[in-house]
Amino acid sequence: YSSFPISLHAMDNITVTIKPGPSVPPPQYCKICIRSNRCQNNLTITAGRNENVSFQCRTPEKYLVIEIRKNIDCRSGPCPFGEVHLQPSTLPRLNRTFIWDVKANKNVGLELKFLTPWLRQIGPADTCPDLITYKISSSVDTTTVNIGSFCRNGTVSRIKVQGGVVMALQLPWNSVLTTSGFNIANRSSIKRLCIIESTFKGESSAKLMSANYPLGFPEDELMTWKFVVPSHLRASVFVRNYSLSNCERKEERVEYYSPGWFSSPEVFKLSDTQPANIPGNFDLSLQGCDHDDQNPGILRLLFQVIVQHPHNEANVTYLIDLSKEKDLSVTIQPKSPSGGHLSLFEPECLICKDPRTCSRNVTLTSGTMHEISFLCSSLEHLRITAEKTIACWNLRYCQRNIYALTVPRAISQLPVRLDKFIWKLLAPEEINVEIMSPSLKLQQHTQDQRCNTSYSYGIVSTTTGKELNLGIFCPGGSIEKIQMRDNITISLKTFGRGFLNDSLNQDLKMSFVPFIKGKVVICSLIPFPKECIFTVTPDPKTQVYLRTPNWLEGLPPYVSVSWNITVPSKQVARLAFLKDRMDIACETGRAYVNIKEQKPKAEETVRREDELLPEPLHMYHHFWVNISNCKPVNKKQLSLQLWVTFIQQKTALPVIIAAVVGGAVALSVIGIIIFCVRKKMKESQNPVVGIYNANIKTQMPGNRAFKKRRKENDSHVYAVIDDAMVYGHLLKESNGSVAPEVDVYRPFDGPMDDTPPTPPPISFKKATKVSNPEEPLLCPVMDSEPYTFAHHTSLNNDGDVSMSLPENKEQEGLVE
Ligand SMILES: *[C@@H]1O[C@H](CO)[C@@H](O)[C@H](O)[C@H]1NC(C)=O
Ligand SMILES: *[C@@H]1O[C@H](CO)[C@@H](O)[C@H](O)[C@H]1NC(C)=O
Ligand SMILES: *[C@@H]1O[C@H](CO)[C@@H](O)[C@H](O)[C@H]1NC(C)=O
Ligand SMILES: *[C@@H]1O[C@H](CO)[C@@H](O)[C@H](O)[C@H]1NC(C)=O
Ligand SMILES: *[C@@H]1O[C@H](CO)[C@@H](O)[C@H](O)[C@H]1NC(C)=O
Ligand SMILES: *[C@@H]1O[C@H](CO)[C@@H](O)[C@H](O)[C@H]1NC(C)=O
Ligand SMILES: *[C@@H]1O[C@H](CO)[C@@H](O)[C@H](O)[C@H]1NC(C)=O
Ligand SMILES: *[C@@H]1O[C@H](CO)[C@@H](O)[C@H](O)[C@H]1NC(C)=O
Ligand SMILES: *[C@@H]1O[C@H](CO)[C@@H](O)[C@H](O)[C@H]1NC(C)=O
Repeated sequence: YSSFPISLHAMDNITVTIKPGPSVPPPQYCKICIRSNRCQNNLTITAGRNENVSFQCRTPEKYLVIEIRKNIDCRSGPCPFGEVHLQPSTLPRLNRTFIWDVKANKNVGLELKFLTPWLRQIGPADTCPDLITYKISSSVDTTTVNIGSFCRNGTVSRIKVQGGVVMALQLPWNSVLTTSGFNIANRSSIKRLCIIESTFKGESSAKLMSANYPLGFPEDELMTWKFVVPSHLRASVFVRNYSLSNCERKEERVEYYSPGWFSSPEVFKLSDTQPANIPGNFDLSLQGCDHDDQNPGILRLLFQVIVQHPHNEANVTYLIDLSKEKDLSVTIQPKSPSGGHLSLFEPECLICKDPRTCSRNVTLTSGTMHEISFLCSSLEHLRITAEKTIACWNLRYCQRNIYALTVPRAISQLPVRLDKFIWKLLAPEEINVEIMSPSLKLQQHTQDQRCNTSYSYGIVSTTTGKELNLGIFCPGGSIEKIQMRDNITISLKTFGRGFLNDSLNQDLKMSFVPFIKGKVVICSLIPFPKECIFTVTPDPKTQVYLRTPNWLEGLPPYVSVSWNITVPSKQVARLAFLKDRMDIACETGRAYVNIKEQKPKAEETVRREDELLPEPLHMYHHFWVNISNCKPVNKKQLSLQLWVTFIQQKTALPVIIAAVVGGAVALSVIGIIIFCVRKKMKESQNPVVGIYNANIKTQMPGNRAFKKRRKENDSHVYAVIDDAMVYGHLLKESNGSVAPEVDVYRPFDGPMDDTPPTPPPISFKKATKVSNPEEPLLCPVMDSEPYTFAHHTSLNNDGDVSMSLPENKEQEGLVE
């Protein structure tokens, strides 16, 4: 293998060491040889010697490194100042570290002057893109202080240190660098640890660190940064990271000196907002203190200097009047956090409270007026987020209040885009929150009906870390009111520029209302299940899509949701589910879907999680859709989506009945037997479905055995109401029990238009369970009791279907 002659002049005072690198231990066959018979693991060549070095292996750069140390002692005799050369010029191609160890008297200043493109400081763990790194330390007697590590290409043009300096230049083995890139000069005392000079030619930024960063700055030391900035540019200083030591005497501080700006040095704490918009050159000094020996702490500072063109030449200031607001905080900050690219300059947007106090982000609090201006090439880079808290700890003081959840004009009118406005509604457990949108009403964002407005509301209710995400809502829908428990967070998010206009017409209000007490607790295992009620008052022309909360993860266990859906007058609502079953299996409790029209003696449709969901239902009155969850066996939770459409109800009641009779006749011709059961029910026999007392431990009904337990007063009522006349009911057997999958007559399943198929019966409902049915008769009655209508799915039965009633075992479960 080739050999490298290394000759060191005695005068140069250079020592060359070749040794294993820190990363991979060299294999036995990769030794360093100076003669064919003398191979070793380490080799040190001292000044005045000449050696021919060769390696036993082909790729020594993988294992070995070379260190070239030059001692320069200026304390006795002349110093070789001037340009520093990379000597000796021929070296094996290994990772190289050139070390210049300059010793000087304590009061002598040594200046390292870098050639362009100068240096850029990096953190101790960072690497340079070209792997060429300068590490500079000051060394006085035995004390070494790390001034910093630097890459090429930056703003650091000179570094002065007091006393000795150690400069280490690390080059990768394949580097072609031939010059050290700096020279050393002798200067008078600088009276401090060091001075780092940064020269800015144009818009740019620099990150700089205190000596020894991230370790502690030496006790009672002084360090100065000099900034050379063209007079037409402005510099701003931002502390990015700092910590303080425990001072026994004096105070840690930074001092600014700017001949063009301050008349005298200005002192800031590290915690202060540092000055911005400084014209021209300035100095920044970090002064340490005398530490408390017991607990010295660490003084360190990482800061950034941003130099850019002055913006806001027009001197526009904005007055933000938050004096009438309460518990509101408004933050203006960059759209995206700064990229962290040390080399790439991104112009910063600064927000200034006065010409000298600027920062990247400001937080404005309510109760006062704020005057701000922006130093920014484009306000597009900024965003506003705001948070307002509305709390009610005692209903006596807040029950009557209606709080407008609107973005104050002072914020919506700013030229900066509002990103988010968050209302935090806080209340104890016994107080509910009601959110209203009386005029615009809310639409729930679903796949089938997406929000396309310029803003939307995300609504989340939170108790002790658990969240119930009601979903995304936007104005222009059918939801008039949402009543919920727990602390609520409403986040208004804006999309595009449209909010500027739309903000004039916001319509969201809230109030605190008493906790809905009583029997409406669907689940007994948890005293206060989360629950929310949506009041939906749709427009006849709309389609309404509604989703259970926590759509993606599913409704949490034991949570119940209710929708109070208004059917516009002269309309029939068609309620459909997007899937045909709940798709969950319960471990504890049962999951229910209950649907019932809001009128006396209305018949109720109930489905348990092990049953199919109802086929589309037609509702003639306002109705409830209630969904309550059990504790599912596995992770799969309940997620249901409803779909409500409207069809005009054209015919009057008597006509409908006639039509039903006619229809029944017609249907019987094709083999469907329709019968009607008149059932008389007392009001007392009108239990509420799926509702039982929260305070009593539940006894779950057996599979399909619905029991109404009357032994205990106020007991868990599990029976199914059916106070209706059953008009036609055919049942299909499956699994030996009465199948719930009796098809519902679906006259309106076609496309919805203004002329629905006729004749519409009063109610096409599936009678899930029939309690105490009696008096089968083929006659509609003239009162307004609802009718349930069903036909057999199979037409093959050819009239063979008997006029059977639901099987007895089903009956037994229903009524004791
Ligand atoms: C040489 O330097 C490179 C880059 O810093 C490093 O990855 C490699 O491990 C070094 N080689 C040795 C032998 O230390
Ligand atoms: C360094 O400069 C100072 C004056 O600036 C001078 O007194 C001193 O002799 C110089 N030392 C060397 C070693 O050149
Ligand atoms: C803005 O203020 C600066 C300094 O106060 C002044 O020089 C400049 O003329 C002002 N610009 C306008 C448009 O008023
Ligand atoms: C120096 O940095 C600038 C960006 O800060 C970059 O455009 C340029 O290419 C770099 N030059 C070298 C030699 O790396
Ligand atoms: C600016 O943002 C940072 C982090 O995002 C935060 O620590 C700081 O408190 C904010 N400053 C102001 C004035 O809001
Ligand atoms: C939003 O969607 C509705 C229908 O869903 C449509 O009528 C309306 O024009 C859309 N608006 C915009 C701004 O796209
Ligand atoms: C709402 O939050 C407040 C304070 O954060 C807490 O005291 C209260 O208990 C919370 N209410 C509920 C229902 O979790
Ligand atoms: C259902 O909503 C309608 C319309 O807002 C309302 O009038 C009615 O009182 C509500 N029903 C119940 C039981 O809350
Ligand atoms: C649905 O829930 C509401 C409120 O929780 C209750 O008033 C109503 O009676 C329930 N209806 C049904 C059919 O369960």
